Amino acid sequence: MLGIVFTTLVEMLEEKVSPEFADEVIVAANLENDGAYTSVGYYPFSEMQKLVGVLVEKTGKPAEELLHDFGYYLFGRLASAHGQVMAGRSGILDALSVLDNDIHVQVRKLYPDADLPTFKVLSKTDNTMLLEYYSTRELHSLAEGLMDAAADHFGQTIQRTTVRSDKPHTYEFNITVES
Ligand code: HEM
Repeated sequence: MLGIVFTTLVEMLEEKVSPEFADEVIVAANLENDGAYTSVGYYPFSEMQKLVGVLVEKTGKPAEELLHDFGYYLFGRLASAHGQVMAGRSGILDALSVLDNDIHVQVRKLYPDADLPTFKVLSKTDNTMLLEYYSTRELHSLAEGLMDAAADHFGQTIQRTTVRSDKPHTYEFNITVES
């Protein structure tokens, strides 16, 4: 997992809670490198799982909610750092329909080591989409936060539900654009 994901999580904790809280979480997570992440580094996904585990303990919130909120925050950081990646997209469904063959392709050029999921459009109308998400990391809640932030980015409101698929490590997002 890319260092930018770790540094952004720490930044979010510092900003939304406090620098002291971010330090406490890092200490409690007992990380391999004591949390000395660099945005251009690459670290095991298990380190992210440790951080989320500590956050669950400290906040009492479910991991899904924490990952959703982090996804929302992460989108803002990624999209503002790399505005060109979202340029030319007309709305949330347009952006989601080109995640695998455009947006994350551009991401791969920026970050060759990125561990990216796969997204497949199962069906689409003007205002609805059934989107299949596959990743062994099963970060579906992070994806939900990224989607909600992307919808806000376009000034759109979405309703969505998530269903675990029969296939391993796979989830389906049923998304409706309201406005
Ligand atoms: C439009 C909505 C988007 C969705 C739903 C989405 C979804 C995701 C998800 C779920 C992951 C976590 C990895 C996994 O599931 O295995 C991820 C990783 C990532 N995405 Fe996207 N993404 C979106 C847009 C973007 C944009 C606009 C950028 C950059 C400008 C971006 C850059 C990245 C990067 C750098 C990673 C981290 C890879 C790693 O940790 O190694 N994504 N994305």
